Amino acid sequence: MDRELFAAAVRARRNAYIPYSHFAVGAAVRAADGRIFTGCNIENASYGLTVCAERNAIFAAVKEGVREFSALCVTADTPEPVSPCGACRQVMAEFRIPRIFLTNLAGKVRECGLEDLLPYSFNLESEVRNQNE
Ligand code: THU
Repeated sequence: MDRELFAAAVRARRNAYIPYSHFAVGAAVRAADGRIFTGCNIENASYGLTVCAERNAIFAAVKEGVREFSALCVTADTPEPVSPCGACRQVMAEFRIPRIFLTNLAGKVRECGLEDLLPYSFNLESEVRNQNE
């Protein structure tokens, strides 16, 4: 478990914009060069426009030119480690994030790989594979 990444996710969670669900989520990703980028969930009156903490963290890194990641940590005040939504799993697959720490605020951790969260995912290689099949 990456304690520094967890602390960054907990901190980021404080900025969650959650007037509708009141469910605050924080996330942090570590780039291959060691830098940490964070995100929180940001909701909207048009509910479907809400963006989760995980995607905001990944996109914050990508917009700075990061393409390689070593880990992601997500946290919420849940009894068990928080489980990422399908859209976030797909974005994690896009950037091949190798280690994923699902946590809760109390510090309970469940470490997963992408294969656990999104088996047989559609990714960059899938288009080539499907064309050749
Ligand atoms: N949410 C996240 O930010 N990440 C998750 O892993 C689960 C869900 C957000 C979206 C929405 O703002 C709120 O939690 C309730 O679904």
